[in-house]
Amino acid sequence: MTAATDRRPGLFVTFEGGDGVGKTTQATLLERWLTDAGRTVVRTREPGGTEVGVLIRDIVLHHRGEVSPRAEALLYAADRAHHIETVVRPALDRGDIVIQDRYLDSSVAYQGAGRVLGRDEVRQLSLWATAGLLPDLTVLLDLDPAAARARLDADDKPFDRLEAEKESFHARVRDEFLVLAAAEPDRFLVLDASSAPDVLAALVRERVKTLLG
Ligand code: TYD
Repeated sequence: MTAATDRRPGLFVTFEGGDGVGKTTQATLLERWLTDAGRTVVRTREPGGTEVGVLIRDIVLHHRGEVSPRAEALLYAADRAHHIETVVRPALDRGDIVIQDRYLDSSVAYQGAGRVLGRDEVRQLSLWATAGLLPDLTVLLDLDPAAARARLDADDKPFDRLEAEKESFHARVRDEFLVLAAAEPDRFLVLDASSAPDVLAALVRERVKTLLG
């Protein structure tokens, strides 16, 4: 099996979007479908896809005091560097399918636009951290932040540092994801996350099928 780009034997699929849009549900449905079809899937996430990453995740999501925006961007980049080198690249080299919750587009949207550090600098930082690895497919689940917030409220879990940010922050994050998707239409599949989960899953499967050839 060959990725569309022919750069490596495996396939790298990421799920992106704001908090509460249903990324985990969709990643799980795709994983189940691929596994049932006999594919080897590595399911992972950022931040926190490695042992070191779990420690970094705790800082970026749960530290109670201030974390400066540049420090925050570097922590996500450090998590990513270690995760890609030790988990994702080896899996892709083996020919596995990697399904990942969040990747560099989250940094560009949250740190670049949310924290206003700037798109290009944050993207370059991530590309440096990962030696330039880009996904074969990025599924963007797009949802109005107010609707996403209602879902998070219904979950009744305490908000982490990012989730607790203001509405204007989440509006910037959503807009930036859409700008990123428009700039790379071949890599992105943009879906209306207010649709039913099984409808979304079918659209994701359709795109993945074309990549698997
Ligand atoms: P996530 O794991 O999706 O949260 P949850 O476990 O609640 O579903 O993501 C954690 C948060 O980290 C999310 O609010 C977005 C943020 N984030 C960034 O700000 N930059 C990044 O580079 C990444 C990967 C995540």
